[in-house]
Amino acid sequence: MAERTIGITLLGCGVVGSGVARILAEQRDLIARRTGLVFDVRHVVVRDPAKVRGAGKLHVHTDANAAINDPQVHVVVELIGGTGAAADLVRKALALGKPVVTANKSLLAAQGRELFALAKKHNSAISFEASCGGGIPIIQALTHGLIANEISALVGIVNGTCNVILTRMTVNGWTYKEALAEAQRLGYAEADPTMDVSGRDTAQKLAILASLAFDATVSESDIHIEGIDTLDPLDIRFAKELGYVIKLLAIAERAQGSAAGGAPISLRVHPTLVHKQDVLADVSGSFNAISVYGHALGHCLFYGRGAGQMPTASAVVSDLIQTALGTAALAFKQLQIFADGTPPANILPFEDLQSRYYLRVLAKDQPGVMARVAAVLGKYEVSISAILQHESAENNHVPIVITTHLAKEGALQRAIREINSLPVIQPPAACLRIIDQPKESSAIQ
Ligand code: NAP
Ligand code: HSE
Repeated sequence: MAERTIGITLLGCGVVGSGVARILAEQRDLIARRTGLVFDVRHVVVRDPAKVRGAGKLHVHTDANAAINDPQVHVVVELIGGTGAAADLVRKALALGKPVVTANKSLLAAQGRELFALAKKHNSAISFEASCGGGIPIIQALTHGLIANEISALVGIVNGTCNVILTRMTVNGWTYKEALAEAQRLGYAEADPTMDVSGRDTAQKLAILASLAFDATVSESDIHIEGIDTLDPLDIRFAKELGYVIKLLAIAERAQGSAAGGAPISLRVHPTLVHKQDVLADVSGSFNAISVYGHALGHCLFYGRGAGQMPTASAVVSDLIQTALGTAALAFKQLQIFADGTPPANILPFEDLQSRYYLRVLAKDQPGVMARVAAVLGKYEVSISAILQHESAENNHVPIVITTHLAKEGALQRAIREINSLPVIQPPAACLRIIDQPKESSAIQ
């Protein structure tokens, strides 16, 4: 096969960028044999060129403008991250009609709509497989493999750091602090872990995935977010006793009982009780998994390494190849699923969410307490599914754990406020949501 050389610029050569450089060097022959393409990394732009990095003999410098303007550069790969310099440089490349490959979920979740429009205006394209789920080809699946499916729900574990922490807390009984310290030591969590543990990183990924799954523009601010940083290990233990595992889930689903099409979408990120028989319960450590429910395919699970140098670089290089082959631009131009061409999502107000709940209240161990808590729940039409209480060992307060049938979030929160104000209760009550995975569509069995 005749080889075609594609000049590229790498903006950023940290964890992911050096992985991309490594794959392009190590797999040069395989890529050339399979695709007929040879990638020439003409520029590697960084902040500090003196830093030692795995970029071999590559031309490492700080002049981003020269690297983007170089007429021999056909594709720009943005691996800086964030919404500052990266945003300006992506805009510059797109304005020159150069396609961009990026792993930057923060940028796309905040400015995707404008950037996609800019790319189309200049007859260019943006590819972003590595922005969600690391090396898992979930963007490819949503934009190609599942394109004929009406998607009813997408439920995923998309933050490796949180999953590492939760796995330690669940399996080893560690405290949040202990588990976070280990995640930092192993290089999963950053020195400032806020983006991950607050749930924001998960929400940014959900914004991108939900936009594609539901043909609607979703941004991070549309999503209800709760992180794992306030999770009490006690709830992990009680959940286990009830047959559940707690995972930080990204959830996008059409409101229950609604017809497809314009029905509102529930969008949320929160620690969630997942039944131990659910496939997501077995997703441990830094692995990610995304369940997608399509009307024709039914339940489909995407599982793999959601972060890290080589898995993420694998997705970036895949985008590079699709871009160089021209298939990325074709799909980008033709498919009306990218955020610039879709309406804002019709979002279900969070208080209208229908869910099952897990509640833990610390109650005085005396007659009538359970009845008073149950009466408040009954008043707000929250039906109890199960109750768990152990004999109290010391003092006169005891945790009571209650799971509910489906209830409305707004009603449940009003009930919790009233329960917290009861003189027999030591507030605050803990409240987590339980997910029952949607049943497979009956359209095709
Ligand atoms: P990183 O290790 O911090 O690397 C960032 C790179 O950008 C560094 O080479 C840095 O230069 C360079 N840089 C920073 N500011 C710059 C500027 N103003 N001009 C030019 N270069 C600049 O980050 P990363 O982990 O590789 O992440 C890159 C992107 O991939 C982010 O969007 C991230 O969200 C995404 N991502 C990462 C992972 C992962 O597992 N790490 C997974 C999925 C997606 P110096 O090296 O000189 O400091
Ligand atoms: N911080 C992310 C995670 C990796 O832990 O999954 C980048 O997407």
